[in-house]
Amino acid sequence: NSRRINIAIDGPAGAGKSTVARMVAKALKYIYVDTGAMYRAVTLKVLESGLSTEDNESVGRLANELDIVLLPGAETQSVHVNGEDITSRLRSLDINRNVSYVARLESVRLRMAELQRQMALEKGVVMDGRDIGTHVLPDAELKVFLTASPRERANRRHLEMGPDAEITLEQLEQEIIERDRLDQEREFAPLLQAPDAHLLDSTGQTVDEVVKQIVQWGLAATRTISTGEK
Ligand code: CDP
Ligand code: CDP
Repeated sequence: NSRRINIAIDGPAGAGKSTVARMVAKALKYIYVDTGAMYRAVTLKVLESGLSTEDNESVGRLANELDIVLLPGAETQSVHVNGEDITSRLRSLDINRNVSYVARLESVRLRMAELQRQMALEKGVVMDGRDIGTHVLPDAELKVFLTASPRERANRRHLEMGPDAEITLEQLEQEIIERDRLDQEREFAPLLQAPDAHLLDSTGQTVDEVVKQIVQWGLAATRTISTGEK
């Protein structure tokens, strides 16, 4: 369909990418793809297999052999690896602490980017991650770089954990800052705002305000391609 575009949403941890991308996809009747879940799925399998997160070759081989399928649902996306639904296991502290080491391996990134490009071929995809606008879908018609202050991002994540959180707000903020640093400083496809991305700082904004802004940009980008103007 020539009227459909691809939307790339990148940014640091807890900026609201998944929440907002899912709602934008729903509003536009697009498909939502959570690329972070794919890196988390590989990390789960690496931890299970006892491989070192430094071992580019072996981890790359493992990643290539995994059959990762994202199933879009009404509210959540479920992740199946080799036929098993592992969705509920992807957000553990253990995975949070290891995922950026797995995600910096070139072998893993090459494989994930290949799968992600296949999912976006038909257009009509809202994809969130770290390198979507810069690397995976450099031709996406709309790119958004979504951020918020580190304290606000940690606070959002801590609220999600509820009163039984296994970690204090301060510890969580430090872990988020460290993960962002690893993601920004890695050599291959780091976390970076694409030059043609809209910067959206959501500090102090509600989810609905952010969604509304991105949907507006999305509709404008769709009109631009339909009329052929620049
Ligand atoms: O939800 P949260 O922002 O905490 O993390 P996520 O989006 O699930 O991503 C988890 C990790 O996967 C990130 O910290 C990155 O190390 C990696 N990732 C990546 O390298 N490239 C992507 N496109 C998406 C995630
Ligand atoms: O995917 P990412 O790590 O960027 O963030 P997320 O998993 O969507 O988590 C963001 C959390 O902050 C969710 O609990 C949202 O309800 C909340 N939030 C938001 O996403 N955007 C706002 N403007 C305000 C709150």
